[in-house]
Amino acid sequence: MAKDLDTTDLAPVRQPLETANGLPNAHYIDDAVFQEEKHAILFDSWTGLAVASDVPEARDAKPIEFLGVPLLLIRSREGEVRVFQNICRHRGMILVDAPRKIEGAIRCPYHSWCYSTAGKLVSTPHVGGPGHNTHEAIKKDDLGLTEIASYIWRDIVFVNISGTAEPFEVVNADLMDRWKEFDQPHHHGGEDSRFDLDVQTNWKLAVENYSESYHLPWVHPGLNSYSRLEDHYHIDEKGKFSGQGTLVYRQLTDDAGQTLPDFTELSEFWNEGAEYITVFPNVLMGAQRDHAFAIILEPKSTQQTIEHVHLYYASATIDQGLRIKNATLWKEVFEEDIFVVEGMQKGRHAPHFNGGRFSPAMDGPTHCFHDWVATKIETHRAAE
Ligand code: FES
Ligand SMILES: [Fe+2]
Repeated sequence: MAKDLDTTDLAPVRQPLETANGLPNAHYIDDAVFQEEKHAILFDSWTGLAVASDVPEARDAKPIEFLGVPLLLIRSREGEVRVFQNICRHRGMILVDAPRKIEGAIRCPYHSWCYSTAGKLVSTPHVGGPGHNTHEAIKKDDLGLTEIASYIWRDIVFVNISGTAEPFEVVNADLMDRWKEFDQPHHHGGEDSRFDLDVQTNWKLAVENYSESYHLPWVHPGLNSYSRLEDHYHIDEKGKFSGQGTLVYRQLTDDAGQTLPDFTELSEFWNEGAEYITVFPNVLMGAQRDHAFAIILEPKSTQQTIEHVHLYYASATIDQGLRIKNATLWKEVFEEDIFVVEGMQKGRHAPHFNGGRFSPAMDGPTHCFHDWVATKIETHRAAE
């Protein structure tokens, strides 16, 4: 189903909500468009890659292949988390093939060039011939690991693979300001507070579904029983972010009536309020008085996405029973969404579908995301 990219018409997507269509089918099922979006959206933006908690201690390293790009997430000896291309500057061998602690230096398994945990090239055995570990043409200072621009916000490691984006704090200034009350330690709940969902859908459908509350009565009857459709409001900041909020957040309690500890000094809104916002392009975040979550969407193909879910708390010492109960509840909710995102993916193979029509009253956040995607693609096409 290869399609000439020039025929992917995004003008209907850019129309006002009342008259707009959704993104055309090719953006969900066409490999060439997936490649175009990879560059225009996922490489050119600040895209969620991993969590800093994946490398909790100094010298922890984790290789991550993201959209085919070999990356290395590493916490240096000094404690700083950074991302590098996971390849040797000599002839491009993969350096680290499994998560591990770096003892000494990162040694390339091919000819043993060695790099520090801060990415500096430190030794080049026999590079000048047997017994000669230097050569005037090989300047170590110029041959450190290639760093990928990264920014950590609330433990999420965002990367800008192309290196062309404005600084993260500029791009996401409004969202960071909106949630600045939560600029306080977020403690990852550990192994029982992370899980993956392998979903047969295009990554954008997961964003579209997450951003709107319209589906709650039918897809999440449990949630809807106490936080109704009319308790929700839309968040659609054109060109920036989208999502939804509720005015009726109910805290988790265990059988003994125990609740999770709150983040400190929150304003009154958060007593009952909660917000669910997508950091464009691929990180679904939730903010609540007593815990937070993030879902990093890893696009695998036009129709496969891994959802990496992480739960965070205000304290490092949360009762394990509460943590497990909370993770179980959220897993149920996120699993409830799977049949719709997989169903819409199948629907995108219908040849006589024009991207659909939005409810002017209910689909503002989803349209906001489509408009952002279309803008990024148009900008990329204009630069070609
Ligand atoms: S490729 Fe790494 S040392 Fe040769
Ligand atoms: Fe949902």
